[in-house]
Order: sequence, then C-alpha cells, then structure tokens
Amino acid sequence: MVISENQIRKGDAEARVPKTLQIAIDGPAGAGKSTVAKKIADALEYLYIDTGAMYRAATWLVVQKGISFDDSDQVVKAVADSKIELRPGHDEEKILVFVNGEEVTKLIRSQNITKLVSKLAAIGAVREQLVNQQRHLALAGGVVLDGRDIGTVVLPDANVKIFLTASPAVRAKRRLKELQAAGENPDYDTLLKDIIERDQMDTNREIAPLRMADDAVLILSDKMSVDEVVAHIIKLCS
Ligand code: CDP
Repeated sequence: MVISENQIRKGDAEARVPKTLQIAIDGPAGAGKSTVAKKIADALEYLYIDTGAMYRAATWLVVQKGISFDDSDQVVKAVADSKIELRPGHDEEKILVFVNGEEVTKLIRSQNITKLVSKLAAIGAVREQLVNQQRHLALAGGVVLDGRDIGTVVLPDANVKIFLTASPAVRAKRRLKELQAAGENPDYDTLLKDIIERDQMDTNREIAPLRMADDAVLILSDKMSVDEVVAHIIKLCS
C-alpha cells in the first residue's frame, strides 16, 4: 500500500496518538527500521531505543577484550560486568552509545562488528541481560523499539507491532548508500552476501529468532519512501 504525504495532514495523525504507547518494529538487516523508528520517535516525542545498538556495543566490548565468541561463558561474564548505555544525542546522532563510559556510537557500525554481532546475539544468557534492560527502558511507554524480537519476546504486549522488510537487493542498496554517505566504499555484492548471511543466522538461531509476531502488521518497503512508511505506522498508532 502506498500512502501519499498529503493523505495525512502533518500533525493531525500525531496528535491523535496516546503518549504512552509501546511501538515495536522488527525486521531483517537493512530494512530501514532505525531510520523509520527515529522519525516516529521524533514526531511523537517518544523515546527511541535502538536494541541492535546494544547487541553491537556488547560485541564491540567482547572484541576489545580479545574474548573468543565461542567461549560463551566469558562472553556472558564480560557483558554482565559492563555497563551499556544509550544516551540522548544531537541532530546528527540521535542517540549515543556508551560502553563503560566510553562513547562507541560510530565504532559499533564497522563492518567487522556487523559481521560478528549475530554470533553474540545467539547466546541466550547475553540476550537475557539485554532484554531485561530493554524492558526496563520501555516500562513507562512512550517508546519506539526496533530489533528482531521486540514484538515476539521483549514486549509481547506492545500496542503496535510492525514487521518491516524489503527484498535483499533493495536492503543491500540502501546499506550501500548509507555506508557511502559515511565515507566508506563497500562492495555491493559483499554487502548483499553479508545481509543474507546475517538474516539466516538471525532467523535460524534457537533463542528469540527473527520472526514476525502473529499480531504484527507487515510492511514491505521496496517501493515506499521513508516518509511513507513513517506516515503509515503513525496512522496505525492513532
Ligand atoms: O541495523 P541493522 O539491521 O544492521 O542491525 P541492528 O539492528 O543494528 O542489529 C544488529 C544485530 O543484532 C542483528 O543482526 C541481530 O543479530 C542482533 N539483534 C538481535 O538479535 N535482537 C535485537 N532485538 C536487535 C538486534
């Protein structure tokens, strides 16, 4: 479904949305969840919680400590002993990510961390710690969370659940543009391969796999602009 901007008067739909909803946005890599979630949070004056950033931050920490991802006991201990925080940022970076007080917002987006994060995310005891933190942050409502298991595990009673996806080729093209804008020069075929691999790992893991919740609304965004997706979701909230 394509909803044009002028079908929704600006501010109209936003004004009808209650202040304390929990909005869950799940989907595969590069579907545009974080871009969309940030815009929704801005429009509704909600808190944006980037759960992927928490898994990335934990991955960064484990790499930093030189721990092998196969040694799950050590990985779990390292995460338990650390403090991962999301703090409000500024215009350019809406949220800042800190590990034990050190800012890692940009570092956690490297291709190396991206390749490793699904390994860490498959460890149940790591997920437990991060999920507890996410639930705590979401408790009061007025929140948008994006991730893989928000509607299924983290907030099964979320008021609005979205499963946002697009074809792998479109997602790889979007990721290419995003990385190019950040000054990187990645290869399209490698990005596509990495996206497909990460989707497979996230979908096939035993604990909290990437799956659409039964009561989620599916949005296929291949032919939709970011603003169209945002308007569509805000309409579902009102
Ligand atoms: O932004 P992108 O789609 O690249 O991924 P992300 O949201 O930053 O998440 C990175 C990785 O963290 C995912 O590929 C998952 O392995 C893991 N993750 C997860 O398991 N559960 C979540 N709620 C969020 C992320």
